[in-house]
Amino acid sequence: MDYKKLVAERIKEHVDMDLETIERFIEIPPKSDMGDFAFPCFQLSKVFRKAPNIIAGELKEKINKEGFEKVENLGPYLNFFMDKSSFIKDTLEKILEEKDSYGSSFVGEGKNVVVEYSSPNIAKPFHVGHLFTTAIGNSLYKILSFQGYHCIGVNHLGDWGTQFGKLISAYKRWVDEEALEKEPINELLRIYVKFHEEAEKDPSLEDEARMHFKKLEDGSEEEVALWKRFKDLSLKEFEKVYDMLGVKFDSYAGESFYSDKMDAVVEEIDKKGLLIDSNGAKVVMLDEYNMPPCIIKKADGATIYATRDLAAAIYRKNTYDFYKNIYVVGTPQALHFKQIFTTLKLMGYDWAENCKHVGFGLVKFADKKLSTRKGDVVLLQDLLNEAVEKTLQVINEKNPSLENKEEAAKKIGIGAVIFTYLKNNRERDIVFDWKDMLSFDGETGPYVQYTYARGKSVLRKAGNVEGKIDYSKLNTPEEFELVKLLQGFQESILMAIDKLEPSIVTRYVIEVAKAFNKFYNLHSVLNVEDEELKKARIKMVEATCQVIKNSLNLLGIDTVEKM
Ligand code: ARG
Repeated sequence: MDYKKLVAERIKEHVDMDLETIERFIEIPPKSDMGDFAFPCFQLSKVFRKAPNIIAGELKEKINKEGFEKVENLGPYLNFFMDKSSFIKDTLEKILEEKDSYGSSFVGEGKNVVVEYSSPNIAKPFHVGHLFTTAIGNSLYKILSFQGYHCIGVNHLGDWGTQFGKLISAYKRWVDEEALEKEPINELLRIYVKFHEEAEKDPSLEDEARMHFKKLEDGSEEEVALWKRFKDLSLKEFEKVYDMLGVKFDSYAGESFYSDKMDAVVEEIDKKGLLIDSNGAKVVMLDEYNMPPCIIKKADGATIYATRDLAAAIYRKNTYDFYKNIYVVGTPQALHFKQIFTTLKLMGYDWAENCKHVGFGLVKFADKKLSTRKGDVVLLQDLLNEAVEKTLQVINEKNPSLENKEEAAKKIGIGAVIFTYLKNNRERDIVFDWKDMLSFDGETGPYVQYTYARGKSVLRKAGNVEGKIDYSKLNTPEEFELVKLLQGFQESILMAIDKLEPSIVTRYVIEVAKAFNKFYNLHSVLNVEDEELKKARIKMVEATCQVIKNSLNLLGIDTVEKM
């Protein structure tokens, strides 16, 4: 039963407002002794020409209270207290019946959403910043799909551009084939850095690189083969990371995919009278929008990053007829996306409004000892491996006899890293700290996973529970608070979609874990005399585990049955 809706319906019987508006006004009181829902009467005072507290008092008398324990007025508020035992029964039965699909809906049915995430650059290391986009995008994909949207996950690889001319030059001069096979990204990075060093001494290298890129664009066999090799080698490395994370994509259409689709776009911009000559370059002026021009073609005629993004957006619209086109890309690129979306709008595409840039902060390290191989880029693979190793150490201390230790360490360690990325508002910077991240208590992935495993251990001991359950036995405040949270799962998912913010689900599952532990520290599940109470509590534990599992799943984190 949706109690909020019921509250709205009962109010509607007495006021002239539509249901949605009433629902929007309904608040959740800060303390449960003020009820479970509150309706503030301020906005009625104009219509009724009375003080809000008087209206609240009158409504209290008139309102149909069926299904509620009581309805009270407190100042300008009308407070609704749910009938706790039927609320608990309804909620737990629904969870246990719907299981893995509890919290899902069809609100997005028939709507396509493109979610672009990860999008690393070929021949460059996959660093810790790329996990931010990967984790957020993967989670948004799951969250949206759970609500019935049809998602298309796109990895917009950085696999095109003048840097590939440089890489080809560098390859032909300095590559160490053996190193390239063994540690491709390191070797590609090494020769790329060397190219820049050497080009400072000998600027003609730049011309050579431009020539190679031109040949690549023209489809010259040698250049294409080299480019393809760089790409294959890099992708193989990226795949290792995606496998560890359990992340997948529906499309790998990256920048190169648009190399043959840009001329048409440039032509279209020109035809629409938007292409302006600026010192030899071709640009779209955006000063009316207080933005620097969007560069479409450089003075040497080469297209750039922005041109490819314009082509990509149009392609996505034509191919997927998207309802929303989401870009999970770091906040430093906010201006770039504003320019792209505004240019699309100027081109007459109203759907530009459905293109959303989902930005995120920077990743910093509190612990300087974090392994870095070179410079200050922390490779993601190293980070994940270290997380798994450190988790294994913790398990060896806490529970050395655990079966499948390695498997558990992987899920917990990697889960801990993902959780850290998704824990706070995405715009906030992350400060990595192993101690915080891997702790079994505090607001961490391992804490939530541990709570789940704790519940599962109770369920294993309990065995099968048969017969009818008397949920009215669950009448402590801790039980009510926990079930209330479990009931709010879908609402938190919908909020996460509204704000494109997976951290809302992360915060939610932390609250569930806390409420469960609070209950569990005060009350026993298996050691109670009353058999009926015991059965009802076991069912509540089962439902809690289910909701934690469903939540973590939406974040891209696996659960472990024992830890
Ligand atoms: N490859 C870029 C980078 O690593 C991110 C690409 C973002 N997506 C886009 N459509 N421009 O910084």
